[in-house]
Amino acid sequence: MTTTTGPTRITGAVGTAHTRIEGRDKVTGAARYAGEIPFADLAHGWLVVSTVARGSVRSVETAPVLAMPGVLTVLHHGNAPRVDADYIGLLGQPDPIVGLFQSDRVPCAGWPVALVVAETSEQAREAAEALVVRYETEPHDIEFAPDRPGTYTPEPRETMETDKGDLERELAASAVVVDARYSTPEEHHHPMEPHAATVRWDGGRLEVHDSNQGSKWVADELAKLFSLDPASVRVLSEHIGGGFGSKGVRPHQVAAAMAATVLHRPVRVVLTRRQMFSLVGYRSPTTHRVRLGADADGRLRAFGHDAQNLTSTVKEFVEQSAGFGRVMYDADAHRTANRLVRLDVPTPTWMRAPGEAPGSFAVESALDELAERCGIDPIELRARNEPTAGPVSGLPFAGRNLLACFEEGARRFGWAERDPRPGVRREGRWLLGTGTAAATFPAGAAPSTAAVTAQADGTFTVRITASDIGTGARTALTLIAADALEVEPGRVQVRIGDSDFGHAMVAGGSTGTRSWAWAIMAAAADLREQLALGGDIPPEGVTARSDTSAAIAALPEKERHSYGAQFAEVAVDTTSGEVRVRRMLGIFAAGRIVNPLTARGQFIGGMTWGISMALHEEAVRDRASGAHVGPDLAGYHFAAHADVPRIEADWVDDPDADDPVGIKGIGEIGIVGAAAAVANAVWHATGVRHRDLPIRPDRVLLAGTGAGPDGSRRA
Ligand code: MOS
Repeated sequence: MTTTTGPTRITGAVGTAHTRIEGRDKVTGAARYAGEIPFADLAHGWLVVSTVARGSVRSVETAPVLAMPGVLTVLHHGNAPRVDADYIGLLGQPDPIVGLFQSDRVPCAGWPVALVVAETSEQAREAAEALVVRYETEPHDIEFAPDRPGTYTPEPRETMETDKGDLERELAASAVVVDARYSTPEEHHHPMEPHAATVRWDGGRLEVHDSNQGSKWVADELAKLFSLDPASVRVLSEHIGGGFGSKGVRPHQVAAAMAATVLHRPVRVVLTRRQMFSLVGYRSPTTHRVRLGADADGRLRAFGHDAQNLTSTVKEFVEQSAGFGRVMYDADAHRTANRLVRLDVPTPTWMRAPGEAPGSFAVESALDELAERCGIDPIELRARNEPTAGPVSGLPFAGRNLLACFEEGARRFGWAERDPRPGVRREGRWLLGTGTAAATFPAGAAPSTAAVTAQADGTFTVRITASDIGTGARTALTLIAADALEVEPGRVQVRIGDSDFGHAMVAGGSTGTRSWAWAIMAAAADLREQLALGGDIPPEGVTARSDTSAAIAALPEKERHSYGAQFAEVAVDTTSGEVRVRRMLGIFAAGRIVNPLTARGQFIGGMTWGISMALHEEAVRDRASGAHVGPDLAGYHFAAHADVPRIEADWVDDPDADDPVGIKGIGEIGIVGAAAAVANAVWHATGVRHRDLPIRPDRVLLAGTGAGPDGSRRA
């Protein structure tokens, strides 16, 4: 029996369901977003974007627009403040789209060419729509196709290509070979809250209320762009209505900052849905050639994945689809490549599980094809190909609980009762099938700082430049801080979204919560040591600060990933070609789950996007204009409630012995493998492989369903 002194020991908030701390504020409208914070004397900017896909601006006819009611100014390349458009940001290369109005060049349709600022948003919009911009046009090229002229391997080559053994020799020696091409279309992330920023100069500091995934990141980039001392930029981002990779430094903050500088007034710029299609990035279309060679028992001898995507003429962005196979499957010969072509289109960017989302569609579809040809159950095929070390890195895995996910998933989904033959289950005009696929996503962490303060009234305040983009991060961090401080969550206030709190990882790469938790736990441990010394807490409180740079650098180098097993059941209408997902199950191994309530939401959100990716999403460009056809949420179809069936997500234990935090990110893995599971189920239903997404009704009908409408099997 031991006795304790001091506050009652309370632990165990982590792992228990907790509703969002700011939930009431959000549903009652009390939570203010970047585009609705009131300011006296606020002016409103409206962007004007190019209507041509390549060329230059010849003239901007400002005079008629300046005479319109309420119009204050029109900024364009001829009069906008000069900025350092060549600054090197977090991504290691200049991003010309944030070097707004610095030149007359137009590299794609939807490129910002002017900002109209007026007293009201309506006046700004009216004038922006009336503004005449004349162009010199040049022929454009937007045609993306595998191996088209201009396709190249970007630098650094050693991260873009990996090569082990002799792929051609092992393919030739294989009893079974799959050599197939897959494709995914251009896809867009449209967070509910559009990109918005309200900017003012306040006591010599640029104050930016903005919707982004990292306030300190945006502050630092704006400081570089405007050649300011980083300390003279403050970015505040209290509530964010979704990000998915699209919310970094974008034209809206830059335009608002330019106008606030010119007008000496606060200025707000909010993007429209249509503008988001060209201004905030998207997922590039991808093409894949996957070559698998196996012995008759399914053991892989050859694994090849050549992935390609497009980027703009002004900036390189690689959708690293080939990364998926580098950690998932080993083979005697193993070759992967990410290749690229530059076209007259906007620059793509990170979008939920960049690389892994399209990469897993290709590879997990090919694995299913291999299972079919070998006559082996798809789960058994994966079990026979579990690597013992990183296939490319050779590093040990810090836990690899993929098979535990498949075991639990198979049991709950009823996989054992599955008849492996395709196209044999029918319900009226519907053909039924089930499919599965594996998922993985890196479990990374990045250096962050945090401050934890003990107040005299027994409460605690955490300050960290974390970003809750809708994931529930604020709530998760409160539970983590409470456990680390050994107090009830009600005594802890977590303040986030303020660049003045110092450097911290952005909400990206599924590393936010893990990185922030690490910093909070370190500061909390330090604080408890200080408090254990006793003494009164002064009015300003007692504060401990942390910086996790050294701790993260000391983590042993291993393959660290989360894993998952996706299961889907579909029904395919043989008369209309429509595919309905009937149920879906995802079982994940994703470290310590902090808040089961919001974690489930993250997984299910990702899986829902996987359904959408498999069946609906596709942005289409018009060859003649180089611009999108129907760039809005009516023209860009995505899963709605009626498309989303019974989805369940759950997890298996996933401890990591040498990780002091034990949390893995869960924002992205839910989408990984989800589209492949649906596509594999469509094959199982119909006997026809769909290698090009989305699996639209017209594609299903054209490919045939292997059965006539009356249920008769075709020869
Ligand atoms: Mo995410 S695509 O790293 O925001």
